[in-house]
Amino acid sequence: MNQHQSLDFQEQEFANILQKTIDLVLEQYAKVDQQAGFHAISQKDVAAWFDEPLPLLGHDPITLLEQVKQQVLDSATGNLGPNMYAYVMAGGNQISTIADFLTSTINQNATKWHLGPAMTEIEKRVIQWTAEMLGYTPDAGGVMVSGGSAATLTGLTVGRNVFLRQHNVNKHGLFGLRPLTIYCSTETHSSTDKSVALLGIGTQYLRKIPTDDQFKIDLGALQRQIEQDIKDGLEPFCIVGNAGTVNTGAIDDLTQLASIAKRHGMWFHVDGAYGGLVSSLPSLQEQYKGMELADSIALDFHKWLYQPFEIGCTLVRNWDLLRESYFKQADYLDTSLEAKSDRLEFNEHYFQLSRNAKAFKVWLSLKAYGFQKIQAMMQKDLDLTRYLEQQILDSPDFELKSRSDLAIACFRYIGQGLDENQIKQVNQDLIAALEKDGRIFITGTRLRGEFVLRACIINHRKTRASIDYLLEVIRDVAQHLRASASQHAD
Ligand SMILES: Cc1ncc(COP(=O)(O)O)c(C=O)c1O
Repeated sequence: MNQHQSLDFQEQEFANILQKTIDLVLEQYAKVDQQAGFHAISQKDVAAWFDEPLPLLGHDPITLLEQVKQQVLDSATGNLGPNMYAYVMAGGNQISTIADFLTSTINQNATKWHLGPAMTEIEKRVIQWTAEMLGYTPDAGGVMVSGGSAATLTGLTVGRNVFLRQHNVNKHGLFGLRPLTIYCSTETHSSTDKSVALLGIGTQYLRKIPTDDQFKIDLGALQRQIEQDIKDGLEPFCIVGNAGTVNTGAIDDLTQLASIAKRHGMWFHVDGAYGGLVSSLPSLQEQYKGMELADSIALDFHKWLYQPFEIGCTLVRNWDLLRESYFKQADYLDTSLEAKSDRLEFNEHYFQLSRNAKAFKVWLSLKAYGFQKIQAMMQKDLDLTRYLEQQILDSPDFELKSRSDLAIACFRYIGQGLDENQIKQVNQDLIAALEKDGRIFITGTRLRGEFVLRACIINHRKTRASIDYLLEVIRDVAQHLRASASQHAD
């Protein structure tokens, strides 16, 4: 190693480290089809691997990578493979892995144009492509953010600020304002609650509107609540629509929401973190009508676009809206260069100053695979979900609890001859038992208070055989649970 001049290695030594890394990466893909959902290693054991003092002296990188293989790679939760069904874990893709590696190699800071010229132009281009995928305005402004939560916070920040500007808060101050109210369905993701708290709106003013039998917002109840709030002297300012809820994939009537928002002069934000990017599929055109009317849209590329974590995006109708919220003059961030050119400065359009060049992996994978191929994978995931639903309907020991147009199925194991209490118990117990078993990874949720298993199927590596295996493993673990419950009862 070149010990005194920098942290860099001699060329051959670096090449050896890279080769070892490539071997580890290839090994991940060699067995990806059989990747376990979870490795049941105790928290204490995992903590113990890393329980050591600050290393003052360096270790041989090849030996270290061997340790990384055993303690980090081999214990990793199976997000790549076909046995992951929990939350929304989309499996990543190989081209983006390479892109992330190259991105950190050149270490561009996607904040000011001249700190990453190509990366800035690529991010702008990805934003334009994203607007095109969604049928949103071609002039859309946008920014890559960490994920759906940050994307909703950004959209709602802009919406709140536009509203405050319209009410001339700079002159009259906040204290002359009536409380702002914001509306969404009871199925809306908790990131909206977090944003509302962070933005100082207050969660007591977040109106959670009930849903219909398909878990879509009840439009009549929404209108009644808005009218009541106006009567009560409150200031309705925003509606958050769901373009795919996290629980069941329900898509609200976005056209109606846009028109209610317009009627009352409200901002219309769409949470498309789960479902927004699948809207381009011909099979889903009808369901997503109205999304193009949103004032802001939150998206997650680490869901339907199969990107590795983390990358989300906020779209707004034009760049000025972002800049109004985020531009801050500072002497050390000279703005004279862009004034004379078309340079776009992302730091003026987002809260962060330093930013990694997230859009590069989206750009490279869209170029390498082509959007049509990615769309084919999306459609395959939808088709596999319909297959899972059918398998559940055809199995006397399972019960389907929700249907959606997207890639989520909620269901319960009902066994044979179990009463309702036993069914409730076995489904609750299944989550921990399946984690311990590790073959597949699935979590649950509550639908109108009832606990259900929830399978999310966004992974281009899944096949019908993976779906069959899911039900087979759940059945197997449930039967073991029931057998030990009856032994205890005896
Ligand atoms: C509908 C919805 N909104 C927001 C989020 C939050 O996204 P993230 O985890 O990327 O912050 C999710 C995540 O699953 C989601 O499904």
